[in-house]
Amino acid sequence: MGIETSCDETAAAVVEDGADILSNVVSSQVDIHKRYGGIVPEVASRQHLITALPVVESAMAEAKTTWRDLEAIAVTIGPGLAGSLLVGVNLAKAIAVAYSLPLIGINHMEGHIYANWISGDKPVFPCLCLIVSGGHSDMVLMSGHGQFEKLGRTRDDAAGEAFDKAARILDLGYPGGPAIEKAARDKEASFLLPRAWLKGSDDFSFSGLKTALLHLVRDNDFSDSSKVAEAAASFQQAVVDVLATKTIRAAERLGVEQILLSGGVAANKALRDCFISNSTVPVLIPPPGLCTDNAAMVAACGYYRHQSGAVDGYDMDVIPSLSLG
Ligand code: KG4
Ligand code: ZN
Repeated sequence: MGIETSCDETAAAVVEDGADILSNVVSSQVDIHKRYGGIVPEVASRQHLITALPVVESAMAEAKTTWRDLEAIAVTIGPGLAGSLLVGVNLAKAIAVAYSLPLIGINHMEGHIYANWISGDKPVFPCLCLIVSGGHSDMVLMSGHGQFEKLGRTRDDAAGEAFDKAARILDLGYPGGPAIEKAARDKEASFLLPRAWLKGSDDFSFSGLKTALLHLVRDNDFSDSSKVAEAAASFQQAVVDVLATKTIRAAERLGVEQILLSGGVAANKALRDCFISNSTVPVLIPPPGLCTDNAAMVAACGYYRHQSGAVDGYDMDVIPSLSLG
């Protein structure tokens, strides 16, 4: 079983052999946080408290399994919101104690990568992982299970954060990624917005792009909704260009077998299409529902950690700023 409560999704899943999803239950708080235009940590942790047990019970019922059939319990310990993480970690500890199950703490970013193990074709090492979420834009070389070397990261805004801020600038609502994608569909990227290539580095930067969008909207008449949609398409195109071009170049340079995409932004169709059409290196991308936060990815990651003999003690704590590699 995997449990995930790092941000605003309460999720539990049962996965067999690290690959087959028996159940995957996600309860989103998006409608609760929408009115604030972003996640309110205190509200998120209180909502996890209400939802966590029913979500775990649903995951067990859907998987048609018994507590005694479970082999281990994996839970996200970070990175994420401390109060939110604590709810999942304490619930996982209680289940581990009650049913004498090994407890395994999971890095949420590593979990995102493992969404590629429950999506059909198995990844082949070495692979280059691009994890693009609300808090991270990481380029990570993975040479084996649990073996990560971080090559690049964002120097300012994460890709998902940039989508969320751009949507706010364009008054498209929250969460920004799906809102921008919807507005941009079939629209021309008619505004030329800057791309930060950061030559010689695998890092990313999106704050200049965000500022350019802000100036574009401030200095021009955007009362026409088709102009807003074209600005959304131009912004999306700029983010997609940089993410795909830099990752594909790095994969060719490193001679990896595959590129693995993951994280909420990997649900974006323009990004998926750009990688598929332009990469000379085979690309694996989980279905959109496994790119955004879920617990099946946590369970899959837990399976491989368990295989390697990893077990955590009941004194395991949350690590809100945990990083990868
Ligand atoms: O991985 P995730 O669900 O949670 C974190 O670990 O952060 O990622 C959430 C982020 C948000 O910033 C959201 O706007 C973005 O992923 N996102 C998208 C799309 N769906 C979610 N960005 C672009 N296009 C999408 N379709
Ligand atoms: Zn995430």
